[in-house]
Parts: sequence; structure tokens; C-alpha cells
Amino acid sequence: MVNINYKVVTTDNIDFLEGLCNQLMKFQADNSKTRADIMASMNYDNRLKLEYANTSRKHMVVAYDGERPVGFAFATIGSVTEENLNGKPDWASELKGIGFYPENYEVPKTIGTFKLLYVDEEYRDLSIGRQLSNMIMEWFNSHEDVDDLWVYVANGNEIVGKLYEKYGFRLSHSVFNGFIYAYYQKIK
Ligand SMILES: CC(C)(COP(=O)(O)OP(=O)(O)OC[C@H]1O[C@@H](n2cnc3c(N)ncnc32)[C@H](O)[C@@H]1OP(=O)(O)O)[C@@H](O)C(=O)NCCC(=O)NCCS
Repeated sequence: MVNINYKVVTTDNIDFLEGLCNQLMKFQADNSKTRADIMASMNYDNRLKLEYANTSRKHMVVAYDGERPVGFAFATIGSVTEENLNGKPDWASELKGIGFYPENYEVPKTIGTFKLLYVDEEYRDLSIGRQLSNMIMEWFNSHEDVDDLWVYVANGNEIVGKLYEKYGFRLSHSVFNGFIYAYYQKIK
């Protein structure tokens, strides 16, 4: 029986998650059916490290087998303004279609975004993903100013939408013409 411990990260340096994060990015690139080249360009340095450093309201939960990190979940809370509605990250510059929020999305809003979830292949189906997700949902629910929650599923990994549905998310729309899928739930 494996004994897994869960810890909330309180340090600024999260380089110990580089390996797991890059496994997740590789998983998404390998499964991608649309613009796999863009998925393949994503890595720890350009997807997680900078965002973690530049976000003030964030929650990182790590599952450990002894000293070894075997899974993690990352979430942020932030505001969405009119300006953000049409903004695109650098990786999406060539992509067309509706962005991260639907066309009629009313702003300003405070949103929680469930950014990343990954469990090492060797440790799957042990309820680690469920425990990490529970801890992220509890964190969201402990903030009274959050209006909506969002989570994004990579193309080719649509099946994982079913997992997020268990936490109350529902499919909202296809982002950048099917590059990713946005799932949403209203909190207040
Ligand atoms: C998705 C993932 C994190 C699940 O982790 P896990 O520890 O194996 O999952 P758990 O054992 O906690 O299972 C949690 C629930 O989700 C379901 N589930 C697990 N993996 C799933 C998947 N890939 N797709 C859909 N549902 C899944 C389980 O059936 C379980 O349901 P239950 O609560 O009704 O029993 C893991 O499979 C993974 O890292 N996959 C690759 C990366 C990925 O898809 N990340 C999420 C998108 S960023």
C-alpha cells in the first residue's frame, strides 16, 4: 500500500515540479489532434514557472511518495476585465476563434482557474487526482469574492472533461476552434 502525503507549496521556487510538469506537457502534445506543434512548444519554463512567479493568488498542491513528488495541481484566482476578453497568450497568436471566455461573458469578474492537474503514470487510479482536485476546490470555495470557475481541457484529452464534471464544471465552449475546451461553473 503506497502512503501518499499532500502538501501545499509555500516556497517561491517550484523547480522540483519541472519533471512532472514536462510529463504533462508531453502527454498533451502526444495526444493532441489539432496543432500538436503548439502543444509541443509548451514546457515548464513557459507554462508554469513564469505564471507561478507572476501570480499573487495561487494554490499549488503536491502529492508525495516519501520525498518523491508524484502529482500536482495548480490553480489561480484573478480578475477578468474587458481588456482580457480579447487578449491572447503568445502561443495562441496564430490561432483564431473564440478565446478563453464566451462572447457574451459579463466582466469585470473574479475567477478561479484550475490550471494544471497531473499524476505520474505509475501512481494513477489511486485517488491521488481526486484528492488533489478536492484540495483545489476547497481553496476556491474558501474565497468569497470568486464569481466563476474555469478549467481548460486540451484537444485529444476530452475524456478528462468527465472528471471535471464531477466537480461541477460543464462544457462552455471550444477555444481557438477546438485547440482546447473551456469548462465553467458559476459560484455566485
Ligand atoms: C487525470 C488524472 C490527473 C487523474 O489522476 P488519478 O490519480 O489517476 O485519478 P483518480 O484515481 O483520483 O480518479 C479520480 C476520478 O477521475 C476518474 N478519472 C481518472 N482518470 C481519468 C481520466 N483520464 N479521464 C476521465 N476520468 C478519469 C476516475 O475514474 C475517478 O472517478 P471516481 O471519483 O468516480 O472514482 C491522471 O490520469 C493524469 O495525470 N492524466 C494525464 C494528464 C491529464 O489528463 N491531466 C488533466 C488535464 S490537465
